[in-house]
Amino acid sequence: MPGLGNRSNGSNTISFHINGKHHEVPLVGTYSASTSLNDYIRNEAGLTGTKVMCREAGCGCCAVSVTTADHAGNGHTTQSINSCLCPLASADGWQITTVEGLGGEKEGYHPIQKRIADFNGTQCGYCTPGIVMAMYGLLHEKSRPTEQEVEDNFDGNICRCTGYRSILDAMKSFAADTSIEGGGVIDIEDLNKKLCPRTGEPCTDDHSAANGADICGLHVQIGGSQWFRPTSLTELGGVMRNAKDKKMRLLFGNTSTGIFKNEGPFDVYIDIREVKDLYEIKETETSVKFGANTSLSTFIKKLKELKDSQPGFHYFPALVKHLKLVGNVLMRNAASIAGNLMIKHNHHDFPSDVFATTEALGAKVEIYDSKDGSRQTYTVQDFVRRVNMKGKVLVSLELPALDTLDTFRSYKVTPRSQNAHAYVNAAFKLKISSGRQILGKPSIVIGGISKTFFHAEKTEDFLRGKEIKDAVVKEALALLQGELKPSADPVLAPPQYRRDLAVNLLYKTLLGITAPSDAKMASGSSDIERPLSSGIQTWQDKKDEWPLKQALPKKTAKLQASGEAEYVNDIPKYKQELCGALVLTSVASATIESIDPAPALAIPGVEQYITWSDIPEGGINNAYARYTTWPLPAEEVFCEGQVEYAGQAVGMILAENQDLADEAAKKVVIKYKDVKKPILTFEDAIEAKSTHSCFVGPATIGNPDEAIAQSDHQIEGEVRIGQQYHFYMETICSLCVPGEEGMEVYITTQAGDVIQIGVSGILNKPQNYVNVHVPRLGGSFGGKFFTSSHIALATAVASYATGKPVRTSTSLSNTMKTAGKRPHLLAKYKVGCTREGKINGIIMDVYMDNGKSNSMQFAVAEFTTQMDQGYHCPNWRITPTIIKTNKAPSAPVRGPGTTPCSAMIETILEHVANAVKKHPILVKEINLYEKDQKDITGQVLRYCTMRQVWDKLKTEAEVPRRMDEIEAYNRANTWKKRGITMAAVKYGMMLMDHGMPLLLSVYAGDGTVTVVQGGVEMGQGLYMKVAQAVAHGLGIPVDMVKVRPNLSYVVPNSSITGGSTTSERAVYAALEACKTLREKMDPIKAKLPPDADWQTLVKASLKAKIDLAAKSTPFAEGAAGAAAGDHHAYFTYCAAVAETNLDVLTGEYGIDRVDIMFDCGESLNPMIDIGQIEGGFVCGLGFNLLEDIVYDKDTGAVLNDGTWEYKPPTTKDIPIDWRIHLLPDAPNPVGIRSSKATGEPSTGLSAAAMLSLKRSVEEASKDLTGSSTFVPVDIPFTLDKIQQNVGIKLEHLKM
Ligand SMILES: Cc1cc2nc3c(=O)[nH]c(=O)nc-3n(C[C@H](O)[C@H](O)[C@H](O)COP(=O)(O)OP(=O)(O)OC[C@H]3O[C@@H](n4cnc5c(N)ncnc54)[C@H](O)[C@@H]3O)c2cc1C
Ligand code: FES
Ligand code: FES
Repeated sequence: MPGLGNRSNGSNTISFHINGKHHEVPLVGTYSASTSLNDYIRNEAGLTGTKVMCREAGCGCCAVSVTTADHAGNGHTTQSINSCLCPLASADGWQITTVEGLGGEKEGYHPIQKRIADFNGTQCGYCTPGIVMAMYGLLHEKSRPTEQEVEDNFDGNICRCTGYRSILDAMKSFAADTSIEGGGVIDIEDLNKKLCPRTGEPCTDDHSAANGADICGLHVQIGGSQWFRPTSLTELGGVMRNAKDKKMRLLFGNTSTGIFKNEGPFDVYIDIREVKDLYEIKETETSVKFGANTSLSTFIKKLKELKDSQPGFHYFPALVKHLKLVGNVLMRNAASIAGNLMIKHNHHDFPSDVFATTEALGAKVEIYDSKDGSRQTYTVQDFVRRVNMKGKVLVSLELPALDTLDTFRSYKVTPRSQNAHAYVNAAFKLKISSGRQILGKPSIVIGGISKTFFHAEKTEDFLRGKEIKDAVVKEALALLQGELKPSADPVLAPPQYRRDLAVNLLYKTLLGITAPSDAKMASGSSDIERPLSSGIQTWQDKKDEWPLKQALPKKTAKLQASGEAEYVNDIPKYKQELCGALVLTSVASATIESIDPAPALAIPGVEQYITWSDIPEGGINNAYARYTTWPLPAEEVFCEGQVEYAGQAVGMILAENQDLADEAAKKVVIKYKDVKKPILTFEDAIEAKSTHSCFVGPATIGNPDEAIAQSDHQIEGEVRIGQQYHFYMETICSLCVPGEEGMEVYITTQAGDVIQIGVSGILNKPQNYVNVHVPRLGGSFGGKFFTSSHIALATAVASYATGKPVRTSTSLSNTMKTAGKRPHLLAKYKVGCTREGKINGIIMDVYMDNGKSNSMQFAVAEFTTQMDQGYHCPNWRITPTIIKTNKAPSAPVRGPGTTPCSAMIETILEHVANAVKKHPILVKEINLYEKDQKDITGQVLRYCTMRQVWDKLKTEAEVPRRMDEIEAYNRANTWKKRGITMAAVKYGMMLMDHGMPLLLSVYAGDGTVTVVQGGVEMGQGLYMKVAQAVAHGLGIPVDMVKVRPNLSYVVPNSSITGGSTTSERAVYAALEACKTLREKMDPIKAKLPPDADWQTLVKASLKAKIDLAAKSTPFAEGAAGAAAGDHHAYFTYCAAVAETNLDVLTGEYGIDRVDIMFDCGESLNPMIDIGQIEGGFVCGLGFNLLEDIVYDKDTGAVLNDGTWEYKPPTTKDIPIDWRIHLLPDAPNPVGIRSSKATGEPSTGLSAAAMLSLKRSVEEASKDLTGSSTFVPVDIPFTLDKIQQNVGIKLEHLKM
């Protein structure tokens, strides 16, 4: 190729540095163009600290920092990017730093790693390396950022465990303006403390090898493709001309493959990162031209720098504000302007923000034609709609200087606060005279409508030259409404909402330009702004038992922050290991006619196809084979013919590596017959009488019919609840290794014994043939129970059949398709209450959708035992029905029964308040449980602190004052409505009374201690609490205690980790083992001098032939809390106040403040417990406001199976001002060491935020229509439902 040589040594290699170490990578045979930098880092370099999950730039756990030549500036630049979408070949010449390059146990931890650990910013730890690297990148760009800049930096990092507050505090503590205790800026030497990414030596800041000097043109072969890296436009043109008949792809950041995944493979890839001509940024008085290779981050940075350089650049800050909402920082660091516009060019329905804003501004693009080297300039719209880009290159984007009379306003309304594509984006440019006159034709660009809609042309024409006044605005809005024809798509917001939204955005813009005559309307012009968030946590220290009950960070936190913590998929590859990928059904109700794996098996590197026929003789094709502790229904591991949901496994493809297996699995051809329309909704299931058996009958207390009939008010309503996916950051992974003793199974599960028994059952082997290891989980939340069994057993069959180690690490898409989720629910209620709002009776019919199988039926019991939550009602009837649909079997998710119970009972209380015309807070508090009342199960609430929690919270949070303020605010504003409400949770805890198997061993050499126990560490701090208990029990420092992972041959029959109480059970077991050991040692101690230390005692005990190990014992009579006849051992009580602010026109909102009062007895570790409370609450915000699963109504396939469409909360979805208090002076008389569990109760409290918003919807509706109808609860209460429930009509949009 002209001007493009191979490497000087003629080899087909690329090279780069990782953590200062040189890597020379021969490409032929080993890699393909789709091999990512992440694949290399994890699988070849063995640096598994860098994690992987979505492969879509949507979660951030794969972040690394890269030092590359800076063609836009001088020298080099270091920034963090997602390694999952970065092609390996693009990394040639780079210096890469992974989390291991920052620090570790041996060489000392990096300040970022230390800070996140010390602030308890890591729970399961799977997201942590990505967060550390995102921070590292920021500090490289700006060593003294502000708190705001830090907070803005984490839009691309999802953490499902912590609720983000602790992470943000830890990271903001590095800000120059921080006031966070323990904070302070970092010295540049400390930033690069461990080693220079280039030399491996302490950093001298000499990055000469990355300043572009050694970056040459490159032409290598990778897989079956040619890979070029030209360094000039001329070279690029030459390469393109030569390859003109080939399937060719230009690429810069390659981030578009996170969205459009199936566009390759290509014959020729041309990496344009080194084409220096495409970086030029040229400013004149009338415009700024940005080279096509300008990254979106640099685009933002330059706009900020240039905003004051010309008067016509006055709109730059508004553009920056919009561009900061494009994806996330890590993605924007890697992605180019051209890449974004080309996506819009290739996919007209893509709601590109760069397109919408720049087109409205009248920007131009320059296009280079490789055929003849010519250049043409087009408007952005003309380029997108009319230019054939074959053989062409986008060279630059030119932003004009605007007239001082020009106004620019743009919007992006998204399913969550950030890192989300737009429902609708819109940009408006209008020239306004001082007298409200629109001069010339305005520009109105609206995205997210359809693939053919760009400009609102009719509205633009109409507004030309018009004066902005009420009648004109009304006509313009009606015209716009008429010309918008939004397309329908099940994963998009409903067309009606998108249309109304676009209309309202024009209204907002016009309101902002002119002061409306009705002052109440003025609030419509502003957006919901989110200030810097902050948090307060308070608790009472209980020093007597320290280190138990001490607020200490987890011992393993630094290992998680440095990437040294090992998860199942981090276990190094075994010799001859194969990787498995499940082959899943794509329809939900059919019979399999045939399966043809041949197209998959034809791919080099693909080894075998496994099905149910590979199950050894006598083995049982059931995920819970031989398991009897719980009544779990049989579920096929491999479908034998009858398909009952889309996403059901029919087989497993085995290949040399995971990517290959995943790709090949998609090529297996399944033919179906008798395909039926799936049952997916309650209505369909009820009509078809498709139900599962329900072991709980109607539960009746008192006489609800009579109580309701005799009440002052009778109210009826319903609550609908969608499905929530667990979104654990580590997907499910199983590694089965056959050996001389049987099979070692490494698995991500909450229930090792279910797996052990299941594998023995499917292989028809004794239970002791199987040894289960659970190192730790990267989150679970109930999700690594049922689905893990399926995957572990399938992998075991594959391993047994091949005699080789097999690893199955499920892709996010496969996991989301095959895994069970929180069930859909429908509750119909009838309530009777007094004039004051005191509830007399409740009748509820609750329908739970358990999908294809009834494994979740246990949750139904919670509807009859926990529906009351914090509120007393003397008369109940609850009738549960479990419906059967063609969906994956439902699964428990954090607070499986109680979280929906909270949503339901809180709704009922809000409905009552609406009926009696009182504030819900006042109604709720007259219904609160009092001490010694009987709850819904008839259990006497002897130690009830509900009232205490509520009252203290109400005082601390100054609720009455804020209620008044909010009322006054709402009276004065039509388009912004604030809301406030409270929620009360009474969470019944069960302590499984066989206790927790545990083995405690003391080593005589130095007195250190190892504990192995049956609980699974998944971020809840179990190991730390056990270590604290042992340290307390033996009177030694916590540092002397190590808690090792769960292993079935050391601690058998460990049962399930779940229900929030595992930590307590394990702490109890640890304290009992310590007691046993001390009893053995006491006689020896008595013979030693009084000041003899622990080490002396241990040595003397060994000499006296004392066994220095001790085991746990089951719970002693009464220790498990529950008195005879009681349903629950004890109750955790908590309450929350949520204050929200709603933009009525768009449905956007802010959760302005949340206060929580939580009775957790005497916390075993307040730092950990507060982390659990925060994490649970934010998971609940996802449940109540954001997350749902969308199915194809014809096939039953899950449609939102990735981060692009499924949106759990991010850092800016959490409360802005968040205060958490542990109730002081509240020991739990029946708890383990007076403590209470914290993992799940707070999830239910989040209903307060949803209901506060719903109240605002009702307020707004009342303002506009005069009607005070109670809006039904439909969870998740997403923006579209919020906005559409107000009932805004064009006539309401007044000036
Ligand atoms: C997680 C995520 C979130 C996102 N969120 C948003 C969002 O909120 N709003 C939004 O607008 N966008 C969003 N995007 C899209 C994002 O902006 C683009 O993926 C990115 O800008 C593409 O740039 P790139 O350099 O990675 O392009 P690549 O992926 O490298 O290329 C994309 C396309 O452009 C072509 N191309 C690249 N450069 C040129 C050139 N100079 N001339 C001709 N063709 C070229 C390529 O051949 C390819 O077809 C998101 C993307 C991701 C992954
Ligand atoms: S794995 Fe890269 S962002 Fe999720
Ligand atoms: S600690 Fe963040 S995902 Fe678990």
